[in-house]
Amino acid sequence: MGIFSPPPGVDDLLPEAITAWQFIEKTAAAFFPLYGFGEIRTPIFEYTEVFSKGIGEQTEVVQKEMYTFEDRGGRSLTLRPEGTAGIIRALGSIEQGSARRVYYIGPMFRGERPAAGRKRQFHQVGVENIGSVSPELDAECIVMLTRFLEKIGIRKYSLKINTRGDAADRAATDATLRNLFSKKKDTLCEDCKKRFDRNVWRILDCKNPGCAEISASLELEDIGRLFSRESKTYLDSVTNILAHEKIPFVLDPRLVRGLDYYAHTVFEVSHDGLGAQNAVAGGGRYEITPPGSKNPVRGVGFACGIERLIIAASSENHNPAPEKKPFVFIVSIGKNAKLPNFSLAEELRAKGISAIADFEERSIKSAMRSANKSGAAFTIIRGDNELSQKTTVIKNMSDGAQAEIPESKTIEYLSKYSPNGLSARLPEQERSQSGNAQAE
Ligand code: HAM
Repeated sequence: MGIFSPPPGVDDLLPEAITAWQFIEKTAAAFFPLYGFGEIRTPIFEYTEVFSKGIGEQTEVVQKEMYTFEDRGGRSLTLRPEGTAGIIRALGSIEQGSARRVYYIGPMFRGERPAAGRKRQFHQVGVENIGSVSPELDAECIVMLTRFLEKIGIRKYSLKINTRGDAADRAATDATLRNLFSKKKDTLCEDCKKRFDRNVWRILDCKNPGCAEISASLELEDIGRLFSRESKTYLDSVTNILAHEKIPFVLDPRLVRGLDYYAHTVFEVSHDGLGAQNAVAGGGRYEITPPGSKNPVRGVGFACGIERLIIAASSENHNPAPEKKPFVFIVSIGKNAKLPNFSLAEELRAKGISAIADFEERSIKSAMRSANKSGAAFTIIRGDNELSQKTTVIKNMSDGAQAEIPESKTIEYLSKYSPNGLSARLPEQERSQSGNAQAE
């Protein structure tokens, strides 16, 4: 690790990589408002209890993964490990029936062991529909997620659904699951021995081969029978709508979400292009009591990991257009051309034409190498000769053709070749291999 590397699990995003990110962000900003969702931006850090109480004291996220620190005023603060709890804090006491629909995009922080697709600073795009409870809203949330994935080029995903039931169901299902595991408790890993008492469902998620084998041998389908009639009807209503909308899904009684605020519907989307960390998105219906309040706020939502969306989309050969190159590169030959070229670049930008002006004092050969490297469609070359003749030399970088044209016509000339994708070639009649052919 050198001084130029960021800490483990944290990435720099350079311009070469950013278009995929911008594509996802723009798609979210255009798509979620179709469902009435407006953007929300909450702080990157919150009082620790927003997460410890909101997500659940016994979760791995709260027990092991939070970046918690004390500020100078002695307050315990935590970098947000996810978006939902902070949003509930921000929107506070929402009355039943007065719903809020919000979407968010931004960095989250979890001190997990870094691996492919598992970062310590990662990014989520997510939605929360808060304040109303109905299976239609859960279904709408899932449908919206699948349509969003399709919009960004992800089609080969699989969707799993389960229910956590309501609070009363959970007491019964926890007890039954504990009972099922109790015969094998001694052979569970050390973490799962603790999970047995704290959060028995999490054992189903353990990657330890011994624990996975024990989990696989359990007849979990029986647990489904323990759910109340209301919980089963609720889940059926959600899945009926999904079937009606032709969204493929699998009911999975083993689906465990890592956050403790869920009640009723839970879901996860995985993708084969991802390897071991194969969850691209997860979510469900939840109840969170904001700090300082006695009343739980109910909502339904999901979050997708943007890093994983990008890996999944590119595994399906969906790569958004590469970074935009500047349309024009301006080379100054000698000192006198610098100021006029500075102004010319400003005039081009004012017309919506992207331009980079180069002011390095160097040979034309080396300046043209930079022009080539910049990927610009055209290079304008201007030195003392052109200044005295009130002309500029314009070189078409795709075929090397050059034209010398009057200074006053330069912008008009370039405007004809749209930087937004129209032909960047010079018309035949305007080609000239002679001109003041300073460029090579
Ligand atoms: P989550 O399942 O913890 O749910 O995270 C959602 C998604 O964030 C995951 O499916 C994954 O794509 C991505 N993700 C999580 N951890 C990492 C990591 N260390 N590195 C890279 N990507 C990661 C939530 O966060 C809930 N707040 C979702 C939700 C919203 N539920 C209701 N509303």
